[in-house]
This record gives sequence, structure tokens and C-alpha cells, in this order.
Amino acid sequence: MKKIIITIDGWSSCGKSTLARQMAKSLGYVYIDSGAMYRAITLYFLRNHIDWTNESETTEALSNIHLSFTYNEKSAQSEMYLNNENVEYFIRDLVVAEKVSEVAAISSVRTFAVSQQQKMGEKKGIVMDGRDIGTTVFPKAELKIFMTADIPIRVERRYSEMAAKNPNVTIEEVKSNLQMRDQIDSTRAVSPLRMADDAILLDNSKLSMEDQLDIALKLVAKAL
Ligand code: DC
Repeated sequence: MKKIIITIDGWSSCGKSTLARQMAKSLGYVYIDSGAMYRAITLYFLRNHIDWTNESETTEALSNIHLSFTYNEKSAQSEMYLNNENVEYFIRDLVVAEKVSEVAAISSVRTFAVSQQQKMGEKKGIVMDGRDIGTTVFPKAELKIFMTADIPIRVERRYSEMAAKNPNVTIEEVKSNLQMRDQIDSTRAVSPLRMADDAILLDNSKLSMEDQLDIALKLVAKAL
């Protein structure tokens, strides 16, 4: 059966990874969370006190970073490894979320991540979600989805996810982080978040997860 590349871009906390994961599972494709890579790089920079406004320091730091994904049978999810350490838990922290958009705006960081993402798609049969996947990473992808949802819904979704882990987090903190990231991600100079001309818009504000998956799988059938 023909395998294609599916890209899912969109605003923060729109449910991109939920949809991407479900699509990959039903199609038997690989799912790659490109945001996890930017988060892992940010975690490395924070832990090692890297001044990412300094170009040579950033380049040197990147040369010491090895990123990989490993499938965890227990969680039935592929998890992010930074220099062979499972960092899946740490990269979801608000401390990382507060800095990740700043780090992801750096040109050398993007070159580093994008070249690895492109390699992962060489054999096709992949669903990758992020911000620039349909525009920069795989501009020739056979199916591009751009996701959006109303802000209060996105805030609520992200808040319940974060509060389960950290009961001290407030809804205001989550909202301001989400808005700040959208602002930085969509206005940065290199590969800003934007909908590719040939992407299909999917607003899931009023959709159940089942409905959303159903729509997406119909789009796949069309693309095949
Ligand atoms: O998808 P996420 O929220 O985990 O992504 C974290 C940050 O990484 C997001 O605010 C912007 C950045 N990012 C990016 O610049 N390009 C991507 N392809 C994916 C994420």
C-alpha cells in the first residue's frame, strides 16, 4: 500500500498531537512530535545554563545534543530522549514551555531540528505535527492539515493536562503562556507558524476526538 507524509501544523494546544497519534495508530504510520525536539533542546540549554543569545555558545551546545525517540510499550507512546535520557516528563514542564518559543526561533536550532525531521520522513509513512512541517520540513507532503480551536477551549485542554501534573499551576499562567508562544511562533523570522497554501483547515472547537479522527482519515483516503 502506498505510504504518504502527513503534516499537522497549528496553534499551541489545539490537539495536534492527539490527532496525529491516533492517525498514526490507525494507519500503522510513525508519529513524530516535532515540538518535543524543540522542548528537549530547550531543556538542555536551561540545564547547562547556555546563553542562547550567543551564537557560538549555541552552536557548540547543539553539537553536544543527541535526540531520539523510543517507543514505550507501557504508555503506547513514543518518548523523547535527550542524550539517551528519557526526558518526556521534564519537557512538558511550564519552565520549558516558557522558553521554548524563544529557543525555537533561533536559526541554528531550527536547522539542527529540521534536518533530523526530514531524515525521519525519508521512507514516508509518517505523521508529524508542529508549526512549520507543511511549509518548511515537508513542503511536498501529500496531506497537510492545519488545526485551530477557540482560545478558551485550548486553554482548558492544556490546563487540565498540566494541572494533573502540577496542582499549583493556574489557568491564567497557562493562558498567558499559550498566547505568548502563539505570538512568538507566528512572528519569528525563520519559518514562522502559518498555514501552507495547500493545507486543509480543521477547526476542532466543536468536534469530538472520534469525529476529528473520522474527518482526518477521510482526508487520508482522498490523498491516497
Ligand atoms: O507542539 P509544542 O507545543 O510541544 O511545541 C513547543 C514549541 O516548539 C512551540 O511553542 C513552538 C516550537 N515548535 C516549532 O517552532 N516548530 C515546530 N515544528 C514544533 C514546535
